[in-house]
Amino acid sequence: RKYLVINGPNLNLLGTREPEIYGTVTLDEIENRLKKLAKDLGISIEFFQSNHEGSLIDCIHEAKDVIDGIIINPGAFTHYSYAIRDALSSINIPFIEVHLSNLHARESFRISVMADIAIGQITGFGAFGYEMALQAIALPHSSGGE
Ligand code: DQA
Repeated sequence: RKYLVINGPNLNLLGTREPEIYGTVTLDEIENRLKKLAKDLGISIEFFQSNHEGSLIDCIHEAKDVIDGIIINPGAFTHYSYAIRDALSSINIPFIEVHLSNLHARESFRISVMADIAIGQITGFGAFGYEMALQAIALPHSSGGE
């Protein structure tokens, strides 16, 4: 089975970007940890990062029929991109929404316009949240039905 990890705007700057909020782990390091975990779980994994809404949407469309599950941190698009929400609901692939920081402990504009169509949301566990998400999505019954 094959999984896709998508990171949205500004997440390429992880490590140096507001480290008191997002930690000091870089996106490369997160991806390396996920590669190791994927190997242990016996699954394949792919990565994509973009600062552009359209590129994220194109990547989501391309996942249709070839990817079994998506882990996505849409960055600030989480809060207002109905276009990314629509892309995710168009492809029929289960996804988990991940945030390094705890959205619920931050400004009130940091709501999610897509968490309700996700399997679930992992928020506030820093870089480890991605590993939690990969374990969760790779479980046989992770599509939320049981
Ligand atoms: C974030 C939270 C968002 O509010 C913010 O805009 C980000 C990162 C997180 O991982 O905590 O870019 O998604």
